[in-house]
Amino acid sequence: MSFGLNRGKPLDLGRHGIDRSDLPPIEHGAWDPRMLFDDPSRSFELEIGSGKGTFLVQQAELQPDTNFLGIEWAGEFFRYAADRLRRRSFANVRVLHDDATEVVTHRLPMGICGVVHLYFSDPWPKSRHHKRRVVQDATLEAIHRVLEPDGELRLVTDHVELWAWYEEHAVRHAHLFERTEFATPESAGEGEVVGTNFERKFRREGRPFHAMTLRRRDLAAGTSAGLEA
Ligand SMILES: C[S@@+](CC[C@H](N)C(=O)[O-])C[C@H]1O[C@@H](n2cnc3c(N)ncnc32)[C@H](O)[C@@H]1O
Repeated sequence: MSFGLNRGKPLDLGRHGIDRSDLPPIEHGAWDPRMLFDDPSRSFELEIGSGKGTFLVQQAELQPDTNFLGIEWAGEFFRYAADRLRRRSFANVRVLHDDATEVVTHRLPMGICGVVHLYFSDPWPKSRHHKRRVVQDATLEAIHRVLEPDGELRLVTDHVELWAWYEEHAVRHAHLFERTEFATPESAGEGEVVGTNFERKFRREGRPFHAMTLRRRDLAAGTSAGLEA
């Protein structure tokens, strides 16, 4: 299915769009996305399911000293976001065409992300599809592993059942994360929670929103095994 996002024009990904086929083979171990940027020593944030890249465009401009990676598995949205970032010449944002849960679980080194953003994730309402939701026990364990000490997973949804799922997972993983208030990013518009495309679309439909932050807790030394940087 095509959403016709490019209006018939070819999109140019430049250096802003990275396809999973550009990554080194998985047998080579961890892949460090900070090396995509001119200054890899800057703080690093990840957006899972970045869609058209609206959050990245808005927030990266206000946080020029932070490197951002969006991961998006729908090719059309990935290409649209990469072209958009290229046209704006952002030095501190890239998008990767891949399954973010695979990347977080099997690719990223430990302790590299200051924030993982997950906004308006697909709710997969049918029970038999719940396993496709991004938030799962295993994904939360993987996100805990890739977050820095005190790093945060920030979640926003309009979907009541997905919100209940998030709340259940937050309780079950209270040993990994402390639940705290969601702080609206500086880039959000007047009255917005985070200001993504889906928030704007759902706001016009009058839907209410739910948001939380899960702050990484330290585990006892040696209990969080993972890929070394
Ligand atoms: C409902 S849209 C929200 C997009 C954007 N965050 C927003 O709020 O406008 C969810 C997006 O997440 C993407 N997505 C879902 N699961 C994903 C995964 N495992 N890895 C990467 N992208 C994913 C979908 O392709 C879709 O573009």
